[in-house]
Amino acid sequence: MTLLEAIESRHSVRSYTGKPLDGATISALQQQIDRCNANGRLHIQLVTNEPQASPCRMARYGKFSGVTNYIVMAGQRSEDLDERVGYYGEHLVLEAQMMGLNTCWVGLTYSKIPGAFNLAEGEKVVAVISIGYGSTAGTTHKIKKAGDVSNVTADSPEWFVNGVKAALLAPTAVNQQKFRFTLEPSGKVAATARFSLVGYTHVDLGIVKYHFEAASGHKISNYSL
Ligand SMILES: Cc1cc2nc3c(=O)[nH]c(=O)nc-3n(C[C@H](O)[C@H](O)[C@H](O)COP(=O)(O)O)c2cc1C
Repeated sequence: MTLLEAIESRHSVRSYTGKPLDGATISALQQQIDRCNANGRLHIQLVTNEPQASPCRMARYGKFSGVTNYIVMAGQRSEDLDERVGYYGEHLVLEAQMMGLNTCWVGLTYSKIPGAFNLAEGEKVVAVISIGYGSTAGTTHKIKKAGDVSNVTADSPEWFVNGVKAALLAPTAVNQQKFRFTLEPSGKVAATARFSLVGYTHVDLGIVKYHFEAASGHKISNYSL
């Protein structure tokens, strides 16, 4: 499966079979996590075989079942932590999809959550991602039109249209899709988060930037992998 196929086939999955991740899968995931931690200055942790899956019980919404593995998206508190978490977390989500796994981003009700992971002084958990073999592959959600989230026109270059289309397939909290891509006359792309009472718009922004870059081939963030 290619990265673009992963973008197209990914859906949030909240119900898992409980089949454990094997050693090779865990080490492939850990390798990707190590890359994200080094390049994104994050403290992402993979927790496996923890049937309590405590953080997923504290999801802001959604009913989770059979979760035994999750990825803790944590890092030092800073202004751009949410966006970085979104970008690198979505890299992990799509890598997982390519390995035949399913995932769901989980926003949490409380900042202090129990679980089998550790935080250093000044660090915070922004979200977690459930991961495992889904009971289903998930389903398509309602998506906005390209014109609702960008200044795309009939004359827009193909790469920009492809980037926006891929951003529209990305997960966002409560499927809010509160982002906007603007192709400026200079050829530069501005990606911004729009206001939402739900929050998480900067995590969403990091996620959609990742999708945009993957499908358009145009770098719009400062993040590298
Ligand atoms: C930052 C973030 C937080 C989320 N929090 C939750 C959550 O707490 N509970 C849940 O069931 N789904 C959660 N989701 C999943 C979204 O509801 C889901 O991505 C959206 O409905 C679109 O569906 P899709 O991922 O299948 O395309 C979250 C997604 C993101 C990006």
